[in-house]
Amino acid sequence: MKVGKGPAKVANPQDLQPMDGPMDVVVLGSLNMDLVARVAHLPQPGETLLSEGFATVPGGKGANQAVAAARLGAATAMVGRVGEDGFGQVLRDRLQAESIDTSAVATSQQAPSGTALIAVSPDNNQIIITAGANGEVSAADLDRLSPYFEQAKILLLQFEIPLPIVEKAAALAHLAGLTVIVDPAPAHAPLSPNFCQHISILTPNQTEAAVLSGRAVETVEEAIAAAETLQRQGIAVVIVKLGAQGVVCATADGSFVIPAFSVRAIDTVAAGDAFNGGLAAALCQIDMQTQTLNNRPLLTSAIRYASAVAALAVTQSGAQSAMPTGAQVKAFLETQKKKQTA
Ligand code: ATP
Ligand code: RIB
Repeated sequence: MKVGKGPAKVANPQDLQPMDGPMDVVVLGSLNMDLVARVAHLPQPGETLLSEGFATVPGGKGANQAVAAARLGAATAMVGRVGEDGFGQVLRDRLQAESIDTSAVATSQQAPSGTALIAVSPDNNQIIITAGANGEVSAADLDRLSPYFEQAKILLLQFEIPLPIVEKAAALAHLAGLTVIVDPAPAHAPLSPNFCQHISILTPNQTEAAVLSGRAVETVEEAIAAAETLQRQGIAVVIVKLGAQGVVCATADGSFVIPAFSVRAIDTVAAGDAFNGGLAAALCQIDMQTQTLNNRPLLTSAIRYASAVAALAVTQSGAQSAMPTGAQVKAFLETQKKKQTA
């Protein structure tokens, strides 16, 4: 199964730019309908709040990451499940409108489409997920996923579908030579040693890094320590996402911090998904045969690109609707460069 013609090669990692050729990303993960209420502050237990506005928008970490990668120009395929209901139809249609291959998005006869009840306050958010059809993703979906490995370069995974299936997908993709990027969200327990061997890049946020490493993660120093702890478990690269503080990155050659871009954030829902889709799109440009993830300049450049994608996403409301295009990211990075040299 074809999802693109392969990556354009980049001579100098500093030159990473939005795509103008086809690329190859496959996503196995969740599709949710997000039911979003804007509130002045997040509710306390037992408190009833009047919202300032309500919207029903397509989301789900898997689908969000697929849209992020596709808007940046990546040839992208989505594998997952929706219910046989109106939400399912809209979720599938939205991905198709982004030119994402949805031929491996199955329809569950038993479960409704996944939903997320989201409260967004000016500086925070709260999410309750009902897995629905996402919880039924099974070995049959791995059979639909594997044919994409013939040409895909990158597999994006998250934890909103059953963990044993995520682990199996990572093992199969690793064996097939793909770069496996795992967003361990939501995280409930440490990762198994075997799973770690199959992860190229792990991208927890602050909370997830604490759960997975068993360490407190309140400061940048603690985030570096947690990233290094996880990296030593056999994962090539660990990137801990720290919201407006940016990211810390741990590799076998050492750790470093990449600050976030300074923007006026209005809605941080799916910031992490924007980052992962952006990271996949950036890495697609690199010839993985000759460049390794331990190449610091190259990795830094890809992370900066992903940070720009996420920074732009937090300036818009919604999940998939907030993802920027390649042209917008290019313009943003040029503006940032001019600011630095002025
Ligand atoms: P979510 O679960 O809401 O999708 P997350 O918790 O996984 O997000 P965050 O750490 O909140 O991820 O954000 C991911 C990345 O997005 C950050 O590392 C940063 O690059 C960017 N980002 C997030 N918030 C801001 C902000 N206020 N300003 C600039 N960039 C931001
Ligand atoms: O990462 C943001 C996403 O988390 C939302 O779109 C929601 O569906 C939940 O899955």
